[in-house]
Amino acid sequence: MAFTVIRYSERPALWEDTADISHEVWPEYNQHGDVLGPYWGRLFDEFADYQFALFDGEAAEVIAEGHTVPCDWDGTTEGLGDGIDAMIVAAFEARAAGRPPTALCALAAEVRPRFQGGGLADRMLDAMSEMGRQAGLGHLIAPVRPSLKHRYPITPIEQYLTWTRENGEPFDPWIRVHVRRGGTIAKPVPRSMSIAGTVAEWEQWTGMRFPGDGQYTFPDGLAPVEIDHDRDRGSYWEPNVWIVHAL
Ligand SMILES: CC(C)(COP(=O)(O)OP(=O)(O)OC[C@H]1O[C@@H](n2cnc3c(N)ncnc32)[C@H](O)[C@@H]1OP(=O)(O)O)[C@@H](O)C(=O)NCCC(=O)NCCS
Repeated sequence: MAFTVIRYSERPALWEDTADISHEVWPEYNQHGDVLGPYWGRLFDEFADYQFALFDGEAAEVIAEGHTVPCDWDGTTEGLGDGIDAMIVAAFEARAAGRPPTALCALAAEVRPRFQGGGLADRMLDAMSEMGRQAGLGHLIAPVRPSLKHRYPITPIEQYLTWTRENGEPFDPWIRVHVRRGGTIAKPVPRSMSIAGTVAEWEQWTGMRFPGDGQYTFPDGLAPVEIDHDRDRGSYWEPNVWIVHAL
């Protein structure tokens, strides 16, 4: 498929047509990150060079969106921290403090559903890697959201990560793409992204009723949500896997 990579900074108007992509790609609950949500809009103002689209010029259509943020990772596994929430906060802090970035952190790859399964995963990582190289950054680091984890919501991420196919490759397709291109699995992150809401919000986001307290699996959830009626709270932690690519 022919496409060009266009950064938000180059052509912001392109993003007027892409508001739908997030809604097409992400389940509703996933668009309510406690930490990620408030920072997301700021990516376009403060890191406009690092948000991009794969654009099919012939069809005049955006086929995928990618989001990244430069960060001052110290090169250690501990320094990768507790996942996507912690890393996005650290990236904005580093920028405010004037600390130079060392790595590019992948935040999201969003391929429009009708183009999924067509080999674009690798192309998204090509674009992110090229962006990192052009900025003189040494690594692409990714808190990966395993794409089949939602079918195994009660399996701990540490265990899910050990599963392999017959040929020894990772069981999860998205992790597999990363590893095949040389990415190193650094560590599982059971609590990467926090999503909390009232019980009514969770019922609306998931299309389910939660009559009592306790843990529930739900459609497209990578882990269970914990429901507490006394506190009127539903709490969910999305698990991720840190993968590191040298650029
Ligand atoms: C995850 C995503 C970026 C992958 O891009 P893609 O273009 O759909 O994937 P590709 O066609 O390049 O396939 C990559 C691998 O996944 C496999 N795959 C693709 N769709 C699959 C599906 N529905 N079920 C199982 N495996 C699947 C492919 O077979 C391939 O593995 P293989 O090379 O071992 O055969 C894309 O599907 C997407 O945007 N998904 C929704 C958002 C998301 O989860 N993003 C990632 C976290 S930020």
